Amino acid sequence: MSQPFSDDFWARMYELAREEPGRNAEVIHDGLRVVVVQDLDDADIVLRKRLANYPKNLQWFAQVGGQSRLTEDGDQWRFRSELSQPSFSRYDHDRGYAISAKQTRRMAGLLAANTKVPLLDEDVIHHCILSIFTEMFLDVELDKIPIAHDGPSRLIELASKYTCIHRGQGQDAHTKDHIRQILESRRQVFGSMQCLRDGNAYDSAMMRRMLAAEAVPGYDFRFEKEMTTLFVAGADTASNSTGWALHLLASYPELQERLHTGQRAIHTSLPDGTERCRAILADQDLKAFISELLRLHSPLPFVTRVAKADDRLSNIDVHARDVVIVSLIGVNRKAMARPDPWVPDIDAAAREGVGMGTGINSSFTWGARVCGGRSFALLELTTILSFLIAELHFGLSENLPIECEWVGQMRRKGGHRITSSVRK
Ligand code: HEM
Repeated sequence: MSQPFSDDFWARMYELAREEPGRNAEVIHDGLRVVVVQDLDDADIVLRKRLANYPKNLQWFAQVGGQSRLTEDGDQWRFRSELSQPSFSRYDHDRGYAISAKQTRRMAGLLAANTKVPLLDEDVIHHCILSIFTEMFLDVELDKIPIAHDGPSRLIELASKYTCIHRGQGQDAHTKDHIRQILESRRQVFGSMQCLRDGNAYDSAMMRRMLAAEAVPGYDFRFEKEMTTLFVAGADTASNSTGWALHLLASYPELQERLHTGQRAIHTSLPDGTERCRAILADQDLKAFISELLRLHSPLPFVTRVAKADDRLSNIDVHARDVVIVSLIGVNRKAMARPDPWVPDIDAAAREGVGMGTGINSSFTWGARVCGGRSFALLELTTILSFLIAELHFGLSENLPIECEWVGQMRRKGGHRITSSVRK
């Protein structure tokens, strides 16, 4: 019987990155073999050079959360990808900055009001970041759509129980209660998406392409399934990253002050708009901080594939049907050479640059299945963090050990213990 991977399993993945950095490992999950890739060159084989041998392992996940460009391969993937990628690749940069800045000002006000003490209000962060996504790519404000902002996240969380299950296994992971929750969540989420069919979103290029795609035979394309996944891929990633960023700032006060001094200088010397946006993006400290953030706390620290045929990686044989996990934490070769790679060091990150084996590169993966929103994610995250760092101070409300939980992304179990206050 194959069980969904527990938080213990994911904790083991983090331990492997610390204990055997850069070295591939074999682990047994419920009697079946899982290959964990931590060697950067081997990760390149799985993600790029021999991509055809390592398709996605998201069959079960797709049955629950719906087929989308994230779950499919080959022709089915290409078809879906062409519906959203033009919007993610060719967007108006100034507009992306302006929308991100507007929503972050709102976020900063709500975080300072701090209604969830001692917890960081992650709902506020998520709501504002999903608003950036809908305004940017669907031309519609989130508040105008009658959808619970966390509805798609809940559905993907239910689906995430099946992230790594071996093909053909996993039937026992369906308990009656789980199925009931899935059906209810799907009904709510897909139902509330209907308003996008004929509302303002209809005028967005991405939505028009998707609705037209529903009529194309052979692809069984439904926009609700694609959009649910894109909401999560596009908003939960940035939202979880923002939470982890505030955790790092609160945990390392000197780092926070150094970044604050730099961002405050930019914000006071340049008016809001293109010039300030350029200065924020060019700021080396902030760029290095984002690289460290994504290296240490990527929202998607592990990606899973399945081997079609036997293969040989540097120190390990892969057998057909093995689940293969590429540890994006484990492959950050450059930082592993530091005396203590597990604390953020923006000077070291700046020296190491942005190439292969650095946080800002590996956490988006690479090759054909690179994150479709990488460019926008970096603009958005840089803008959000710049405004938050310039305007707010973050402290630890409680110093508790960190536990992670897998909900389709890695989030902090129990929430972040962070206070936010307005700077004088
Ligand atoms: C900090 C932010 C983000 C991180 C760390 C991140 C990371 C990733 C990773 C690791 C994958 C590959 C998953 C896999 O191969 O199994 C991925 C895929 C994807 N991401 Fe992101 N992402 C982020 C933000 C975004 C944003 C803002 C968007 C959209 C605007 C986006 C859109 C996508 C899409 C569409 C895919 C699927 C690509 C494909 O295979 O067709 N991501 N992302």
